[in-house]
Amino acid sequence: MFFKSFVSALALPSLIQAASVAYTDSASGITFQKWTDATTSFSFGIALPASPSTDFIGQISAPITDGYAALALRTSMASSLLIVAWPNGETVVSSLREATGYTNPDVLDDSTVTLKTIETGTSVNSTAFTYTFLCSGCIKTDDSTFAASDTTASLGWALSTTALDTPASASGALNYHSAGFGGFGIDLTSAQSSSYATWEALASDDSSTTPDTGSGSGTVPANITTTISNVTYDYIVGGAGAAGLIVAERLAESGASVLLLERGKASLYSSGGEATMDWNNTVTQYDVPSMGYYLSTASDTTEYCTDTASQAGCILGGSTSINAMMFVKPNSNDFSKWPTGWGWDTVEASAERLYKRTPGTTSPNTDGKLYDQGAWDVLSTWLDGNGFSEVDAIAEPEKKRKIYSHPPIMVSNGLRAGPVRDYLPLAQALPKFSLQLNSKLLRVVRNGSSITGVEVSTGAATRQIINLNTNGAVILASGALSTPRVLFNSGIGPTAQIQTVSNGSTQITLPASADWINLPVGEHLQDHPIFTVTLQTKESLTSLASTDFTAPDQTNIDLFAKGTGVLAQSGQRLNFWTSIANTTDGVERFIQGTCNSPANDTVRIKVYLTHGLTSTGTLGITSAGATKITKEPYLNTAGDKEAILAFMTQLISYASKSDSTLTIASNTTAESLIAEYVTGSHFVGTALMGTSNDGTSVVDTDTKVWGTDNLYVVDASIHPHLPTGNTQAIVMVAAEHASKKILAKAGSTTTTPSKCRAARRRRSYL
Ligand SMILES: Cc1cc2nc3c(=O)[nH]c(=O)nc-3n(C[C@H](O)[C@H](O)[C@H](O)COP(=O)(O)OP(=O)(O)OC[C@H]3O[C@@H](n4cnc5c(N)ncnc54)[C@H](O)[C@@H]3O)c2cc1C
Ligand SMILES: *[C@@H]1O[C@H](CO)[C@@H](O)[C@H](O)[C@H]1NC(C)=O
Ligand SMILES: *[C@@H]1O[C@H](CO)[C@@H](O)[C@H](O)[C@H]1NC(C)=O
Ligand SMILES: *[C@@H]1O[C@H](CO)[C@@H](O)[C@H](O)[C@H]1NC(C)=O
Ligand SMILES: *[C@@H]1O[C@H](CO)[C@@H](O)[C@H](O)[C@H]1NC(C)=O
Ligand SMILES: *[C@@H]1O[C@H](CO)[C@@H](O)[C@H](O)[C@H]1NC(C)=O
Ligand SMILES: *[C@@H]1O[C@H](CO)[C@@H](O)[C@H](O)[C@H]1NC(C)=O
Ligand SMILES: *[C@@H]1O[C@H](CO)[C@@H](O)[C@H](O)[C@H]1NC(C)=O
Ligand SMILES: *[C@@H]1O[C@H](CO)[C@@H](O)[C@H](O)[C@H]1NC(C)=O
Ligand SMILES: *[C@@H]1O[C@H](CO)[C@@H](O)[C@H](O)[C@H]1NC(C)=O
Repeated sequence: MFFKSFVSALALPSLIQAASVAYTDSASGITFQKWTDATTSFSFGIALPASPSTDFIGQISAPITDGYAALALRTSMASSLLIVAWPNGETVVSSLREATGYTNPDVLDDSTVTLKTIETGTSVNSTAFTYTFLCSGCIKTDDSTFAASDTTASLGWALSTTALDTPASASGALNYHSAGFGGFGIDLTSAQSSSYATWEALASDDSSTTPDTGSGSGTVPANITTTISNVTYDYIVGGAGAAGLIVAERLAESGASVLLLERGKASLYSSGGEATMDWNNTVTQYDVPSMGYYLSTASDTTEYCTDTASQAGCILGGSTSINAMMFVKPNSNDFSKWPTGWGWDTVEASAERLYKRTPGTTSPNTDGKLYDQGAWDVLSTWLDGNGFSEVDAIAEPEKKRKIYSHPPIMVSNGLRAGPVRDYLPLAQALPKFSLQLNSKLLRVVRNGSSITGVEVSTGAATRQIINLNTNGAVILASGALSTPRVLFNSGIGPTAQIQTVSNGSTQITLPASADWINLPVGEHLQDHPIFTVTLQTKESLTSLASTDFTAPDQTNIDLFAKGTGVLAQSGQRLNFWTSIANTTDGVERFIQGTCNSPANDTVRIKVYLTHGLTSTGTLGITSAGATKITKEPYLNTAGDKEAILAFMTQLISYASKSDSTLTIASNTTAESLIAEYVTGSHFVGTALMGTSNDGTSVVDTDTKVWGTDNLYVVDASIHPHLPTGNTQAIVMVAAEHASKKILAKAGSTTTTPSKCRAARRRRSYL
């Protein structure tokens, strides 16, 4: 939620001045208008013909030996054409990508756009690389690039120094741009030259561009070895995140044998995590609460999935290990429209089971004090003056209109709490529970409607089949952006998506097409959009610099060792909630504000549009196996727009009162405040739960996939609505509830491992 997505991170347009200078490259003889980032030395140069139309010559140069350099041809939330290049041995690999606002941009699907290398201007040495190219068809008219008539352009750049998984593959997945990113301006008029035609002729014929295989897991080797495990289980759970850890532990409590598969590595120090802090070697970057806002700049950034449509944690604990720790208990209204058996009257008991282990807190520090309260002081007074009142969001989760609270967070004893800390040790104390890290579930193995086991990737060229015991079940908990991939790979979902897998490069064995199960997987994607509102304080407040968190002083290190101080707190300083109830469609929609102070005269409010929103999008898969958003889930209903505009109008009116202690730029309008937004990273609904197999849902109210005997989904994918607050607490509550449903349906009949392999194939599940 705090992290910006790939493209929105580049969105700094109007403030940028063109700061490019003329530069003649001695290697190629081409004169560019060139801009250089002072911190990283990333540079981009451009040369244009006297009358620009569709083509330009570009030069990307960066001091990297691993990772990549990326150039965005415009800065905005909308799709931008990206040119990405990186060194691979002695050559440069380049790739045209299409950013849709999400972490791993897909390969551009447009044959009219091509890159040709200008060899004389392209080089790789032991410290840096330079890529000079002719970009044909690259100035487009669909707003994905600057326009041919522009005199200046606002562009974006991003740099990663983290080695790519498959650097030889132009379509391989990109990782997080850990080394920097930003926007810059370039003077296009001065880039025009009558010598352009001569330079253009330097471009080689063989296009260095990419096969159109889509980004994702990169090239799968041809010589995969598949073995069959000699151990079988009653339950195999795919994904050890918020839902998977909880369900696996509850199933193991029943005495059943449980295998929990997790594709990532260990996270918290107590789980074997190795990314320790340089100031304390018994805590990792995931343990330290204040790091929740700084993980994407930490020493290790390999915890993010590189093949999901947006940011998600691919590490033990899933997104609960990398998120900002907000723990907003769901309220009864959050479940008011869930299907039979999932109303608050029955779910409440499951919530109480969670809170016994993971209570959440508004008072994380062992000394009971709260530190760095400048933003709280000014905002709480300001909200009081506008009719809001203070509650404790942990003690009073039902109150969600015109209230504010100290942030409710998932921290205990000064460390990140959650399922890795609160459930995993309990599971590991049980004799028949196993956790297998670095193991990616590829698909379930099916015989018609019966699931017999799973296929797991354990290395680049090694796979394993793990079978279920008689009456066993597979439970998917890979998260709303990954569970759909496992379903598609298992022949479950819209036919077009399964065909993409079938025709793709990931070497997945699908069931015969007669056994494909047509369900609307991916078709009800929802997320909270986040809008940023910046207010100025009339009197200066004291706000800490980012280095106070990323490079703490000894005082704070010592306080942290005692479970207190700013390092034991997460990044938020105040949360408020309210609702807009009078939109034309009559649907009440909730608003969450998550606030902190980034500077001594500034308060920043992340405004989320939450429960009640009606926009939906869709999630699909690329031929290389990455999930991809094919329709954005944001603000595509009139009611959603009306509600967020109404709230922004209210906020502007508060800040425009003559006695307001907080002010907003006088030309701000509600429309300008909603022009840009980022993902809330709160994806739900990609394997929707419903009461009948009528084409609108994927799982039944026992969380079992329609048309299967023994396949369940328990993660955020099944949620039919978004909650009022951040999603992890409701995901955990629903997982507790799902574990009861699964045990009630299947638990009584699970057996101990059978030596009779024939019996395992019985179809009479239950
Ligand atoms: C950057 C970010 C910040 C967030 N901030 C907050 C916040 O402050 N508060 C809040 O309440 N919510 C927050 N959220 C959302 C919250 O973390 C998620 O809603 C929640 O974790 C979802 O739980 P889940 O079980 O559905 O999936 P996840 O927690 O994502 O777990 C999925 C697990 O499955 C694993 N996996 C995926 N595919 C496979 C596979 N094929 N085989 C094996 N394992 C697999 C993953 O590695 C992961 O461990 C944030 C999310 C993100 C991404
Ligand atoms: C390496 O190449 C970069 C440009 O790609 C250049 O600036 C740098 O001077 C070169 N370094 C050496 C040691 O040759
Ligand atoms: C698989 O093939 C690759 C080359 O394609 C080779 O490098 C690798 O050693 C092979 N692996 C096995 C297990 O044979
Ligand atoms: C499975 O095989 C491994 C060796 O590959 C062996 O160590 C283990 O004992 C076997 N387990 C069972 C249950 O047979
Ligand atoms: C699939 O199930 C049927 C029973 O429905 C059984 O006859 C058949 O042998 C099974 N096939 C395999 C490969 O297990
Ligand atoms: C996949 O290939 C089949 C033929 O093999 C073709 O009919 C189908 O349209 C292709 N689907 C996709 C999504 O490319
Ligand atoms: C590191 O943090 C832990 C808190 O989990 C604390 O117990 C320990 O004393 C700290 N170590 C140092 C060197 O500060
Ligand atoms: C909703 O209420 C607000 C303030 O109470 C008001 O400004 C707005 O016009 C109302 N909107 C509608 C559609 O009635
Ligand atoms: C706020 O001011 C204090 C005192 O001058 C300074 O130490 C601190 O770094 C400032 N905070 C920010 C975020 O700049
Ligand atoms: C408001 O004015 C400032 C300063 O002139 C300008 O930079 C900004 O873009 C304007 N904002 C809007 C929403 O018009």
